[in-house]
Amino acid sequence: MMCGTEWWLSFVAIVVTSFLQGVHTIRITKIEVPPILKVGGSGELDCVWEEDNDHMYSIKWYQAAQEFYRYTPTSSEPIQIFDPPTLDVDGGRSWGGSVRITNVSQTATGPFHCEVSADGPTFHTASEQANLTVVDTPDEEPEIQGVESHYSSGDWIDINCTSRRSHPPAQLSFSVNNQPAPLGWTEPQRDTTDENGLTTSVLRLHFYLAPRLLQDGQARIRCYSEIPGVYEKWTEEVIMTSRPYHASVLDGATAGCSVTTFGSLWLLALLLFHSSNTPYL
Ligand SMILES: *[C@@H]1O[C@H](CO)[C@@H](O)[C@H](O)[C@H]1NC(C)=O
Ligand SMILES: *[C@@H]1O[C@H](CO)[C@@H](O)[C@H](O)[C@H]1NC(C)=O
Ligand SMILES: *[C@@H]1O[C@H](CO)[C@@H](O)[C@H](O)[C@H]1NC(C)=O
Repeated sequence: MMCGTEWWLSFVAIVVTSFLQGVHTIRITKIEVPPILKVGGSGELDCVWEEDNDHMYSIKWYQAAQEFYRYTPTSSEPIQIFDPPTLDVDGGRSWGGSVRITNVSQTATGPFHCEVSADGPTFHTASEQANLTVVDTPDEEPEIQGVESHYSSGDWIDINCTSRRSHPPAQLSFSVNNQPAPLGWTEPQRDTTDENGLTTSVLRLHFYLAPRLLQDGQARIRCYSEIPGVYEKWTEEVIMTSRPYHASVLDGATAGCSVTTFGSLWLLALLLFHSSNTPYL
């Protein structure tokens, strides 16, 4: 039987011995998870640890709360894979803390944890997490609605661009004649998310068709749909004016334009005649 003093001495002895042996730790020095994958895509996870008088016993990878991979080097079966519903593990290309995941689904989006545990006597555990976003790209390229077959210079253009069913929402933008549309020409993008978590986005563009926007009587409108890092598609529509508004009289120097020049002069004469006979209201 130990009396109080002896108990204290043994306690101090244990503490001093541990101190002389050094600190026991196991820690994760690097965790790597691809930040973005496409639905059905593959990627490498990597977890690197460092041990200080501790001995690694097992490494586990979790997707959200679900453990899907375990490496226990002392076991007769060092790798165990627990088929999660959100991804597949390529067992042939996984070892230690490095895991190849394939066929990821949308629901694999979220945190991935790597957990490294030491064996006795400390049973220390270290854990780190990193996020994965699984991107479901839009079903098809963006679609521009509301373009009429003919416009006149000075008309209001009011059109929408729609990008269907993606996660995360696509970022829509317009260009006019290859120049980004000024901020005031668009309304804030409207996103609608369906029951499958997929978002359809609509961006509205409206502007005054100023003569300077017309090149050969046309203006080219593009709508871009983008998910940064993984997806970019665009669609183009041409705004056509039925009566080309351009300085045909000056262009007349080019022989090929003579018919147009003649037509324009005739039109001009007609307009002048018409206005001189029309009293101002
Ligand atoms: C990918 O996972 C889905 C279920 O999430 C499954 O139906 C499909 O067969 C898998 N594809 C491959 C190539 O393993
Ligand atoms: C992962 O995403 C969550 C929620 O968006 C965020 O709170 C957390 O800080 C992210 N973790 C890392 C390691 O980026
Ligand atoms: C564009 O969207 C707005 C807002 O929903 C709607 O009022 C307008 O009719 C749409 N225009 C076209 C051409 O679809």
